[in-house]
Amino acid sequence: MRILSISLLVATAAFAQEAPKKTDKLAPYYPTPESVVEKMLQFGGLAKGERMFDLGSGDGRIVIMAAEKFGAVATGVEMDVDLWKQSASRIRSLGLEKNAKIINGDVLKQDYSSANMLTVYLLPSSNDKVRPLLEKQLKKGTRIVSHDFEFAGWKPEKTETIDDDGEGRSHTLYLYRR
Ligand SMILES: C[S@@+](CC[C@H](N)C(=O)[O-])C[C@H]1O[C@@H](n2cnc3c(N)ncnc32)[C@H](O)[C@@H]1O
Repeated sequence: MRILSISLLVATAAFAQEAPKKTDKLAPYYPTPESVVEKMLQFGGLAKGERMFDLGSGDGRIVIMAAEKFGAVATGVEMDVDLWKQSASRIRSLGLEKNAKIINGDVLKQDYSSANMLTVYLLPSSNDKVRPLLEKQLKKGTRIVSHDFEFAGWKPEKTETIDDDGEGRSHTLYLYRR
């Protein structure tokens, strides 16, 4: 009996160690209006051939515009399987596979060290969680454009408010440079 309970305990501990950690949902899906997407990419000065990442890419609209209109090499990271499938299929149908892709994964578990620019539309508490990773990984000069929410402890280089997105909503953009 004792041997049985010890083996059970060992098996439970091994399972707990191997069980994948749950992905931390950093924000609900709330897409940036297309007009604001373009503004974000201009605001960050995205140039042809640069590498950009969108952290929590939703339906992929930022990644798609970055590749299609700005000629960037764009990667999105999205945890939601349906949004990932939808965005990946739109990328295929537009023939943008060479310059655009979506990783179905966790924003907090990626490598952003190759980035020239990042776009972020999460929440203030999520920016707090992402910030240490970016401070560790980003090379000097990488630009970060955050939609609506600041990164506490970082000083924005530029801030701009779009008073009306056509639907009566205002949006604030923050540009940071590491
Ligand atoms: C506010 S939406 C922004 C979507 C897109 N970036 C845009 O601006 O249109 C946030 C997105 O982040 C995704 N998300 C939240 N937590 C995540 C995580 N830990 N890893 C990957 N994606 C995540 C959500 O599923 C959602 O699609």
